[in-house]
Amino acid sequence: MNLDTPAPALAYQSGFGNEFSSEALPGALPIGQNSPQKVPYGLYAELLSGTAFTMARSESRRTWMYRIKPSANHPAFVKLERQLAGGASGAVTPNRLRWNPLPIPEEPTDFIDGLVAMVANSSPEKPAGISIYHYRANTSMQRVFFDADGELLLVPEQGRLRIATELGCLEIEPLEMAVIPRGMKFRVELLDANARGYVAENHGAPLRLPDLGPIGSNGLANPRDFLAPVACYEDGQQCTRLVQKFLGELWGCELDHSPLNVVAWHGNNVPYKYDLRRFNTLGTVSFDHPDPSIFTVLTSPSSVPGMANLDFVIFPPRWMVAENTFRPPWFHRNLMNEYMGLIQGSYDAKAEGFLPGGASLHGCMSAHGPDAETCTKAIAADLQPSKIDNTMAFMFETSQVLRPSRFALECPQLQSSYDACWASLPATFNPNRR
Ligand SMILES: [Fe+2]
Repeated sequence: MNLDTPAPALAYQSGFGNEFSSEALPGALPIGQNSPQKVPYGLYAELLSGTAFTMARSESRRTWMYRIKPSANHPAFVKLERQLAGGASGAVTPNRLRWNPLPIPEEPTDFIDGLVAMVANSSPEKPAGISIYHYRANTSMQRVFFDADGELLLVPEQGRLRIATELGCLEIEPLEMAVIPRGMKFRVELLDANARGYVAENHGAPLRLPDLGPIGSNGLANPRDFLAPVACYEDGQQCTRLVQKFLGELWGCELDHSPLNVVAWHGNNVPYKYDLRRFNTLGTVSFDHPDPSIFTVLTSPSSVPGMANLDFVIFPPRWMVAENTFRPPWFHRNLMNEYMGLIQGSYDAKAEGFLPGGASLHGCMSAHGPDAETCTKAIAADLQPSKIDNTMAFMFETSQVLRPSRFALECPQLQSSYDACWASLPATFNPNRR
């Protein structure tokens, strides 16, 4: 948009992984070639690669942008005094951890200052692994940011966000999510007084829809429900602070223009949003229940087939109809590492202690499952079809062990008595009663 004119109504293009295209001025998008000698309207052509050039076509992500000034038009970046909160990795622990929600800061805090590192399983120079943050903000960004270290998956828990990106705007609210490609510039504006939520930074292969196998050609998250923006540019001469995250550190420089100055673009390396309420939740109609992988929204594969670098899994409202079945999530010990959050309501494996905005970490082979109260009720329940409603929990699941940050291990929100929720499981074994 031109800053002198009112913001246009939001518009989106639907689909996942498509070759999208959009132009904010008629004829701005070159036809038939990517980089003509003279781009319409005197724009510059620029390629943003999301994967290596030589990646298989099915995996390749790239977008051509036609912009007022090329991104190269910037002075040297200088390391910022204020770095991301959370600190480096703390001590390794095999223990189960759970956190209460982090408070919204009282001082003015934008999305970047409000990011706090919680857990990670990779250093940013590695082409695999994830880092997980919580964000808390009470003011819109007055600067523009990009993350050279990974793709960002945003999961709001409180407050609506307007995300102005190079390719256009996305607006998201709790129960929606957004993904910003690695390196794409964006500004997070608050549409409510406060904002809080979760961020997974994916250092590995870009997120994509999971294969459906015997499920067939429909179900889970359907491609048409993913929404990409339309072109929308800023042409002001206002000075703009551009901040990047590079190998874990924040660096900044001053531009004499807005870097959100893309007038037209085409490609499949795009930011997108998805409404979690549109997830087509599948489950058993006989007995037992499927593995929670049945709830996978998006996945980032690792180099080991079938073993994800990152699975984004949700636990939406759903009917429970299984007969003669222990219906809560079973007791389990997994190879994979599970970081859970809660967007609204409560989670069906925990009677209390797991709050919206809070989080839990169950690492590789750590034993967990329903707490004592939930378990006892589930065994005694008179099973009828019932609906788990008003809930939305999620999980970032990853194949490598997640190490908590120093902040995560030392903050007062870390619950000291999480283990106690399993301590009162009654001894019900009786060799004389089958
Ligand atoms: Fe689990």
